[in-house]
Amino acid sequence: MNGLQLLGTGRCLPSRRVTNEDFARTLDTSDAWITERTGIRQRYFCAEGETAVSLAVGAARQALEDADVQPGQVGLCIAATFTADRRTPALACEVQAALGLPQTALCLDINAACTGFVAALETARCLLLGGQLAGPYALVLGAEKISSLLDFSDRSTCVLFGDGAGAAVVRLDPQAPWAAVFGTRGDGQVLHGGGPEDPYLAMDGRAVFRFAVETVPVCIRAVLDKAGLTLDAVDHLVLHQANSRIIHSIAKKLEQAPARFYENMQRYGNTSAASIPIALDEMRRAGQLCPGQTVLCAGFGAGLTWGGVLLRA
Ligand code: UT7
Repeated sequence: MNGLQLLGTGRCLPSRRVTNEDFARTLDTSDAWITERTGIRQRYFCAEGETAVSLAVGAARQALEDADVQPGQVGLCIAATFTADRRTPALACEVQAALGLPQTALCLDINAACTGFVAALETARCLLLGGQLAGPYALVLGAEKISSLLDFSDRSTCVLFGDGAGAAVVRLDPQAPWAAVFGTRGDGQVLHGGGPEDPYLAMDGRAVFRFAVETVPVCIRAVLDKAGLTLDAVDHLVLHQANSRIIHSIAKKLEQAPARFYENMQRYGNTSAASIPIALDEMRRAGQLCPGQTVLCAGFGAGLTWGGVLLRA
């Protein structure tokens, strides 16, 4: 089916750990509210000198090592991000320079917010399948410095997000199952930020919550239908880590036990495009993700966008 095989993963979190209690000291909020409403207990923010690029490089280096792939074998480097340190050059080009990826590699960023990593996987698969890349391996990154867009006096947004990066090395596997499903509902009001009129991230949390619970189960079923698989054939469900209650509501709609869905928002908050690759890396390093297993990844977020793909571990 010409799917993707996951050969290695990595993650990099910045050094400044901020707990819910830390927020409660400066904001009208509490550990109880944040934990009960979101599942989040702490997150990491970049300290002086830490950037989206430095996080991406750290995660990418680990993923190449884990995959036992040399930088010179990489034909494609895609970084999913909506919080790159600058508009140009692309974050992926800075990763190319830092890691010594070959000059023949295609390096580019994509912005599909929290759906970014899933969109990057499908983009990587299509480019690998196209046969024009100079190397057989793709380095797919999710890297975010969301703290640069947060209003730290707005309790309804700043407690939800975190900075971080995750990376995956993938290649085509003719035997691996594949299906990808995407959707977009263009809406500049529900979740937006980073513009001249709206420098900070702003969100109608309830609307995003409803949107996620409505679209993601349909998306997951569509991915399975396309691949001719049932949920039983999927070993792990790795969703974007925005809110534990969203994941539990999706599990309920799919009539699955919540334990089938990986959760790590308690440690990192919502790291947007980085959340799925960070989760994959944790699972792999903990021995939870075993060779040959099938993973279904699904993201959702600003755009509004959503998407789901399969991966072979
Ligand atoms: O990656 C995708 C991006 N975003 C998301 O996925 C977020 C999706 N949405 C959510 O996760 C939830 O909607 C939130 C966690 C953002 C909010 O939870 P909620 O249960 O939908 O709460 P709410 O927005 O309905 O707010 C309930 C109350 C409000 O007070 P009133 O109006 O009832 O008096 C808020 O002002 O909670 C208040 N509130 C807070 N209280 C303490 C909002 N933020 C906080 C806070 N601490 N940090």
